[in-house]
Amino acid sequence: MSVERIPLAGVIGSPIAHSKSPLLHGHWLKTLGIKGHYIPMDVAPEDLENVLRTLPRMGFVGVNITVPHKEAAMRIADQVTDRATLIGAVNTLIFREDGKIHADNTDGYGFIENLRQNAPDWNPAAGPAAVLGAGGAARAVVASLLDAGVPEILISNRTRARAEALKQDFGTRVSVVEWVQAGNMLEQAATVVNTTSLGMLGKPELRVPLDGLQKGALVTDLVYNPLQTRLLREAEDMGCVTVDGLGMLIHQAVPGFERWFGQRPVVDAATRAVLLR
Ligand code: ATR
Repeated sequence: MSVERIPLAGVIGSPIAHSKSPLLHGHWLKTLGIKGHYIPMDVAPEDLENVLRTLPRMGFVGVNITVPHKEAAMRIADQVTDRATLIGAVNTLIFREDGKIHADNTDGYGFIENLRQNAPDWNPAAGPAAVLGAGGAARAVVASLLDAGVPEILISNRTRARAEALKQDFGTRVSVVEWVQAGNMLEQAATVVNTTSLGMLGKPELRVPLDGLQKGALVTDLVYNPLQTRLLREAEDMGCVTVDGLGMLIHQAVPGFERWFGQRPVVDAATRAVLLR
């Protein structure tokens, strides 16, 4: 008699209570009528490798990885995609039947899909992109923008050395602009992205002069709480196209869900509503 296996997936981080991923995957499992579970797991760094080697034996088909394990999980994985290697961090693991752990980073994919869905007229090739911030999220954004065909990226970060390191890794289409000059780089930009944590609930606002911004520019913020940051509000007032960060969070989860549970989930207004409850 064969026993039906219920596929298990989840998200590993520390802390993990704030994660919206269980809500999102739970919604998709329910609406698609899939028998499966998605579980948040708080794992200490010293336990990560053991946990990742044990989960497949417990019926897990894969997991999402979040802070602070995104770099460590990459080192543990047996196979890492090129884009994750370039970014230097992973967020999606597939536990393969042969026991190997396959790792990917879908943040950049989620970033681009969010723009394609919510700003369908956006043309990456229309001109340079200006990226504020040079942390982990910025690396995924820069990789995906270059891949999408943006001709040039101007990057500005409070700690200049981090922006320089990013340029080093991503090549000649990237230039570094002083943090105090960030407003100037926006004048040339067809695409503007805030990847810093400024504007997040409980953090100071991002204050950058938008005076020179082109009217047709697309402005997006990775911050999704609150949905409308000062940057987006001001850009919208200036007649720019704006896209908030919630869609990136949703879209980055799609490839993992599809691989683990065998169905591609839809991203629509109901999906957003679940995360805003
Ligand atoms: P993530 O993985 O979300 O990108 P991170 O690697 O901690 O997180 O990066 C946070 C980003 O927000 C960085 O670009 C950081 O600038 P520094 O590299 O100078 O730290 C930026 N950031 C955070 N607080 C900031 C502040 N008060 N002013 C300017 N930039 C800030």
